[in-house]
Amino acid sequence: MASESIPHGAHITVRVPAKVNLFLSVRGIREDGYHELTTVLQTVGVFDELRVSLAGPPGRGQHPAARRHMRLELAHDDIAGLPVASENLAVRAGLALARSAGVIDGAPHEREDGPRTVLELDKAIPVAGGMAGGSADAAAALVALNELWDCALPRERLKELGADLGSDVPFCVVGGTALATGRGTALAQVLCRGEFTWLALLDDEPLSTAAVYREWDDRCAPSEVEPDAVLQALRARDPEALGAALHNDLEAAAFALRPDLAERKRLLLDAGAFGAVLSGSGPTLLGLAADPAHAREIAARLPLGTGRTVIATSPAGGPELRREVGGER
Ligand code: C5P
Repeated sequence: MASESIPHGAHITVRVPAKVNLFLSVRGIREDGYHELTTVLQTVGVFDELRVSLAGPPGRGQHPAARRHMRLELAHDDIAGLPVASENLAVRAGLALARSAGVIDGAPHEREDGPRTVLELDKAIPVAGGMAGGSADAAAALVALNELWDCALPRERLKELGADLGSDVPFCVVGGTALATGRGTALAQVLCRGEFTWLALLDDEPLSTAAVYREWDDRCAPSEVEPDAVLQALRARDPEALGAALHNDLEAAAFALRPDLAERKRLLLDAGAFGAVLSGSGPTLLGLAADPAHAREIAARLPLGTGRTVIATSPAGGPELRREVGGER
């Protein structure tokens, strides 16, 4: 429950990593319309940062009773394709947490300067790129606001709230390396030794996850591929074996919608990547390298105009919380 332990001006920052799917097999369609998956997820070192703070008239604005009608306000740089206001997954996560923990229990007040929580989002994870950018922001909001509002909900409960917001949110709440089944929300952490280096090939044209799954329905059959080779390569710290084992059943569907992606995957392999795979439902493609120097070599060998690349290592932990206190009480 909310308390008054946060002084006026306090803010909390959470840095949250992107995710990649090292393995994804689609086992079939579920009764709820989602697809049954077996997938291996890992966080990768491309980070969004979310800063949350309380605002409003000193005293009144910080009082839990006043907060029951507060607004959630979102601020971010103008980024193409990023959902705004209450459509943004971070705001939706904040509202879900506020309602579940009883922090907000009424309609938001009308006053401009009334009590509010401000969410400031600094994005580096590509929007609609298949790297769980929106889900990472939702996870960051759950973790940050759980602290700011003193809800004291356990991570397990945050994962449950996250599952209602999106299939990748529970994983983003914990991070690390996980084997997921069901919709992608039933998680078990798996062993990963060492670090892996990726060259992410970004794409400016977003690809809708729902559209990729619909395409899978039209053209693909349930798969029985198992993730054993990926899990073994992670345990053995073996990038070449991992490169050979990378697998994503959504590639056939995404490549049917965007044939240029198949070509871009080929370019990563021709440039010397140990393996290449579509990240989630795309359109980001990932090439696996031996180390950052190798990743730079691969990037340099890509034909001019292939697109923007980012080098990042995995796993990248989970949401990282920083509590900062400023201003007067
Ligand atoms: O769960 P999330 O909101 O991220 O999913 C976006 C869309 O992707 C869903 O509306 C659904 O069409 C599809 N999806 C699916 N099966 C999954 C995950 C996602 O069909 N396991």
